[in-house]
Amino acid sequence: MLTRREATLISTFVVWALGMQCPVAFGQSLLDMRTPKAPPIPHINGPKVYGARPGHPFLYRIPCTGTRPIHFSAMGLPSSLKLDETSGIISGTTPDVPGEYATTLEAANSLGNVSRQFKIVVGDQLGLTPQMGWNDWYSYYEHPTESDIREAADAMIKSGMADYGYQFVDIDDAWARKPGSSDPQLEGPARNADGDILSNARFPNMGGLTEYIHSLGLKAGIYSGPGPLTCAKFEASYGHEDADARQFSKWGFDLLKYDWCSYGTVVKSPGLPEFQEPYRKMSSLLEKQNRDIVLNICQYGMGEVWKWGRKIGGMSWRTTGDLGAVKGGSLPGFYSVGFANAALDAYAGPGGWNDPDYILIGTVGDANDINLPAKPTHLTQGEQYSYMSMWSLMAAPLFFSGEMTKLDDFTLNVLCNSEVIDIDQDSLGRQAKVVRKTPQEFVLAKPLDDGSVAVGLFNLSTEPLTISVPWSDVERSGTLMVRDVWRHESIGAFANGFSSQVPAHDVALVRISPQRTLPVSPAR
Ligand code: GAL
Repeated sequence: MLTRREATLISTFVVWALGMQCPVAFGQSLLDMRTPKAPPIPHINGPKVYGARPGHPFLYRIPCTGTRPIHFSAMGLPSSLKLDETSGIISGTTPDVPGEYATTLEAANSLGNVSRQFKIVVGDQLGLTPQMGWNDWYSYYEHPTESDIREAADAMIKSGMADYGYQFVDIDDAWARKPGSSDPQLEGPARNADGDILSNARFPNMGGLTEYIHSLGLKAGIYSGPGPLTCAKFEASYGHEDADARQFSKWGFDLLKYDWCSYGTVVKSPGLPEFQEPYRKMSSLLEKQNRDIVLNICQYGMGEVWKWGRKIGGMSWRTTGDLGAVKGGSLPGFYSVGFANAALDAYAGPGGWNDPDYILIGTVGDANDINLPAKPTHLTQGEQYSYMSMWSLMAAPLFFSGEMTKLDDFTLNVLCNSEVIDIDQDSLGRQAKVVRKTPQEFVLAKPLDDGSVAVGLFNLSTEPLTISVPWSDVERSGTLMVRDVWRHESIGAFANGFSSQVPAHDVALVRISPQRTLPVSPAR
């Protein structure tokens, strides 16, 4: 005779298993949903290591899937931090004493429980793993409003994205006033009598907005630049850097994207010192604030920013121009951006990441005509899996920039795969190396903290291809276990190497491990 709890467990599992991985017919096309549905028992996602500065406000919502209510607990949490057991939000002040605080996070519901290591490293480094979140640019361009941003934050929770580790909700350009504009929503003095920057009428309450985002356990990002004006010609920080850093901190922001834009009018023919100076200045001002503010350097890769971005205080640096404006040829634009970014693996690591720009899928605006309404992506399903696989292998910041209020099941299945995200967020913090690049094939390999290696086999051609990776190409030997990362399935044991049939413009993403370290999916 089954107990009631066992019966519930079995029936929930059956319902869940039936819903797994079934191709779903949608209109004419068949949706190839590779990500298994999250199991009903809790599963904790996100980074296992987290950097924070001493004595600063701390906020972290434990990313966790599974049927709610979930009861959270944490062992070894520093006493200055507290955990809300229902929401899983950790808040408080980081310890004054730098050091590594080894914590074990636990999540339990009526069906089971799970735990995950989470090391809080109190010191001078933020961004020990790549940042994850959403940025409004490709959804709202020059017209974001406070309510758009609030809706996006709500959607990050409701869609479940936050349960996979998406955390930052970032305002891009066009929140400030626009000098010279006669638009009643944008006009007016850009600063008050004290020199403090003012938001425009579309953002009536910046402090209230960040407070709301924080109340959800999420973080808030803002945008400015070292020139007099932003790229969309709104007020920026030139000559007011000190006041702006203080204001961003006072408003409660947790990230600043600092975009070169009109700084070219300040320095006419910049060399390395001129490229570095404005970012060095802003990073040292941000460091003086009494909260942790991540600095995202945005200057499109000038002066080989990857070589010095970390040294001058950046936690990530855009390596190329705007991905959304890249006109693809035989391959969509994200491939060429990915190829350029992939060559820079030596420069990425804990605390500083190569940033190849946002994940542009779902319902997304056209950067070449920002006045057109946002439309469903033209990328094929295989291309979308390739995009997300490439970004995760490259340990890129994972910022979705399509419309949060129009998230569909397919887009969520691309954005929210726990084992794909584990590759991006891996504690070792290595960016994949290029193993092979031919006109037909692109192979990336990323060593992971547990000794396994993630490999992406990308088919760049228009025909199906068999793509191989000999173990010697990924510095491994012997018989190794191969796991299909997207589907959370073990493929089997392979001696000497692995080959996969990959459809056109698609990817096979596998994790190769000695059997003892094979990650066990919560599902099986
Ligand atoms: C560009 C930047 C984009 C976006 C835009 C705003 O320079 O690369 O990501 O921020 O400015 O105007």
